[in-house]
Amino acid sequence: MATQDLTYRLNDGTSVPFIGFGTYPLRGEEGIAAMTSALEEGYRYLDTAVNYENEHEVGEALRRSGIPRGEVRLATKVPGRFHEKDLARRSLADSAERLGIEQIDVALIHWPNPSRDLYPQAWQALVQAQRDGLVRTIGVSNFTREHLERIIDDTGVTPALNQVELHPYFPQERLRETHEELGIRTQAWSPLGKNPTPFHEPAVADAAQAHGVSPAQVVLRWHVQLGSMPLPKSGTRARQAENLDVLGFELSEAEMGAISALERADGRRFGGDPDTHEEM
Ligand SMILES: NC(=O)c1ccc[n+]([C@@H]2O[C@H](COP(=O)([O-])OP(=O)(O)OC[C@H]3O[C@@H](n4cnc5c(N)ncnc54)[C@H](OP(=O)(O)O)[C@@H]3O)[C@@H](O)[C@H]2O)c1
Repeated sequence: MATQDLTYRLNDGTSVPFIGFGTYPLRGEEGIAAMTSALEEGYRYLDTAVNYENEHEVGEALRRSGIPRGEVRLATKVPGRFHEKDLARRSLADSAERLGIEQIDVALIHWPNPSRDLYPQAWQALVQAQRDGLVRTIGVSNFTREHLERIIDDTGVTPALNQVELHPYFPQERLRETHEELGIRTQAWSPLGKNPTPFHEPAVADAAQAHGVSPAQVVLRWHVQLGSMPLPKSGTRARQAENLDVLGFELSEAEMGAISALERADGRRFGGDPDTHEEM
C-alpha cells in the first residue's frame, strides 16, 4: 500500500496530504467501491461537492473502509444556488448529514458566480461555521485574485485553500504566486489535464521514460514540485495506486520547465473562466 509521507500545513494550523482523491462522477454502489479502493490504496482526502450528488457514497466508503474517521479528510463544496448566508449555512449542515459526519473537514465555495455578487455572503457563512465547529477548514474554489481579496477584506479571514483548474496546459503561474503571497494552498482540479491529456507531449513522455514511470505520474509529480495539491480521479484501483506513487523520483529543473512550457492561451478544459463561467 502506498503511504502518504508528505503533507501540507495550511494557514489554519491543520494539515492535508500532498494528494487527494477526486470523486466526480463516482456514484452508487460502483462509486462506493471505487472510493473504498482509493482509501485502501492510501488516499486520505476525498473531494466531493453538493453538486456531485455523491456525498452519501463518500461517507459510506469511509465507513466501509474501516479507517478511523480522524485519519481521513472529507471535503465538500457549497453550490452557487446556496450563496445567501442562511442558505449556505443550511447547505453545510445538509452536507454533514449526507456525509454522516459531525464536522466537515474542509468546506469550499464551489464557484464565485460574480454576476450574482453573493459569494461574500457564502464566505461569511463559512467563517461562522468554522467558529461554530461545523467545519474545520474553510476555503474556496475557482476564485481569482480579485475574489480572494474581496472576501479577505470583508472578514479578515484568508481561505486555507483555493481549488482551481491546473494542469500542464493551464499552469496558473500568476494565481499560484498570488496564493503564495496570501498564504493560500493551491489545490488542482483536473490535474491530469484531460480532453486531451498531455501524456503524448515529448516534455511528459520523455520524462516518463527517463524516470521509468507513467506520463500520469510525471504530471502528478510536476504538481507536487510546484507545491500544488492534485485531486486525480480514477475509477480503477491500479490507476489509483499509480497516481499515489509519485514520491520516489524527482523531476529536474529542465523537466519541470519543459512541462510548464506546455501552457496554451486556450489551455482551459471548457472555458471555465471564473469571471464569466457560473455554476449553480
Ligand atoms: N472545483 C471544481 O470546479 C472542479 C471541477 C472539476 C473537477 N473537480 C474535482 O477534481 C477531480 C479531478 O478532476 P477530473 O476528474 O476532471 O480530472 P482528472 O482527475 O485529471 O482526470 C480523470 C480522468 O483521467 C483518467 N485517469 C486517472 N488516472 C489515470 C492514469 N494514471 N492514467 C491514465 N488516465 C488516468 C480517469 O480515468 P479512469 O477513471 O478510467 O481511471 C479519468 O478519465 C474531480 O473528481 C473533482 O473532485 C473540481
